[in-house]
Amino acid sequence: MPVRVTTDVDLALEVLRGGGLVAIPTETVYGLAADASNEAAVRRVFAAKGRPVDHPLIVHVADAEQLPAWAAHVPAAAAVLADACWPGPLTVIVPKAAHVLDVVTGGRPSVGVRVPAHPLTTELLDRFGGGLAAPSANRFGRVSPTTAEHVVRDLGEVPGGVDLVLDGGPCPVGVESTIVDCTVEPVQVLRPGGIPTEQVERLLAGAVAPASGPSRASGMLASHYAPHCPVLLAPSRAEAVRMASDLTNPLVIGDTDDLVRYAQQLYDLLRRADDERRSAVVAILPPAAGLGHAIRDRLFKAAADRAG
Ligand code: TXA
Ligand code: MG
Repeated sequence: MPVRVTTDVDLALEVLRGGGLVAIPTETVYGLAADASNEAAVRRVFAAKGRPVDHPLIVHVADAEQLPAWAAHVPAAAAVLADACWPGPLTVIVPKAAHVLDVVTGGRPSVGVRVPAHPLTTELLDRFGGGLAAPSANRFGRVSPTTAEHVVRDLGEVPGGVDLVLDGGPCPVGVESTIVDCTVEPVQVLRPGGIPTEQVERLLAGAVAPASGPSRASGMLASHYAPHCPVLLAPSRAEAVRMASDLTNPLVIGDTDDLVRYAQQLYDLLRRADDERRSAVVAILPPAAGLGHAIRDRLFKAAADRAG
């Protein structure tokens, strides 16, 4: 049976309360959501994605007032970031409250929490009351979905993959949330994302450990976010033109100074390269500032050697 796609929040609530899986729109990417307090439902998320069970999930909640319910205690930095950035593309890692299921945290003593900014999902979370454990709604290791159609194409055919897709249109940010580990001092950015690292540094008056190479949140392996065709990185527009001239039918991306738009379209373009059977993607690297950090991180991963 084809997966149902809907804008009906009542239906989504019913599925979630029954232990089912709903793909939810967020401002970053679509998530594959289950009731975070239902162990069997959360296990189904891992099975649907083909994701190793030791890779923890983010708990999505309706508002910042719910953070203390998921944390053993709220570190000062987490409170500052939540207050300034939620709802929005930021995840804080905090010491977990006792009731948080091991299946959600991969057995870790910490939990990732975020308040997404999308009207449909805000209504859903408000009415659901609890937390929704949700990774990005793609098969493990593939490009995250930024439209309902991407989700249907990735998970629609997977038996037990997704029960319902809540269609909130294309995701406006287009890259995942910034993940900040607030269990360490100074805090550390584990994954650059929709909230620029510079903003995190500003909010915490610089008390942020310097990023050490590519994002290192567990489960963030090199060669994530990859299309099937090769991804080649060009340091400049001129270099991209030169690289593309050596290839047959490549797709050149990132020929823009508008990083908001580059991020919005990034995953759709990577998918399109495969759909159009392009020989390769030639991606122009944006400057390492603002949203550029997240775009560069995803491009480096998409370009990583996929052997093994
Ligand atoms: O924007 C987003 O963050 C999207 C939307 C759906 O909210 N979600 C998302 O989830 O990207 P996922 O599972 O694809 O990536 C979450 C990352 C994983 O690399 C996971 O290992 C890390 O967050 N993570 C979650 N909880 C963690 C924890 N307690 N400690 C360290 N890393 C954690
Ligand atoms: Mg993911």
